[in-house]
Amino acid sequence: MKKIQIINGPNLNLLGKREPTVYGNASFEGYLSGLRARFPQCEISYYQSNVEGEMINKIHEVGFEYDGIVLNAGAYTHTSIALRDAIKAVATPVVEVHISNVHARESFRHVSMLSAACRGVILGFGLDSYRLAIESFM
Ligand code: DQA
Repeated sequence: MKKIQIINGPNLNLLGKREPTVYGNASFEGYLSGLRARFPQCEISYYQSNVEGEMINKIHEVGFEYDGIVLNAGAYTHTSIALRDAIKAVATPVVEVHISNVHARESFRHVSMLSAACRGVILGFGLDSYRLAIESFM
């Protein structure tokens, strides 16, 4: 069994309610059960936090044991050197994901502090971005 950790950052607990025209109407929990059914060969763990340090702690916790981390750091993507350092510090490869096409949005979303430390980036495919990121670990 491959072990994959999904980490969602700030405000992503409100998926389904938050700006539905940008992020859609589906909750992440509902989507997650479909993902788990689609990848029976994977143990998919899920963690969400609105707190930067808690996300860093989770990366440290799984980052020498899991086969892959799928990280949507929300707005911390654009600001957090501490998250970038955490990604670089661990052995597990990280794929950065975004639900929206950040390059089609405000210019402050065009910059990612994380991308250069990640194995790759998938963005703009709605929740399907997470599925594509998991495929990259298969
Ligand atoms: C996001 C894009 C970020 O710019 C934003 O702050 C989010 C969500 C996305 O998944 O599209 O919170 O990471």
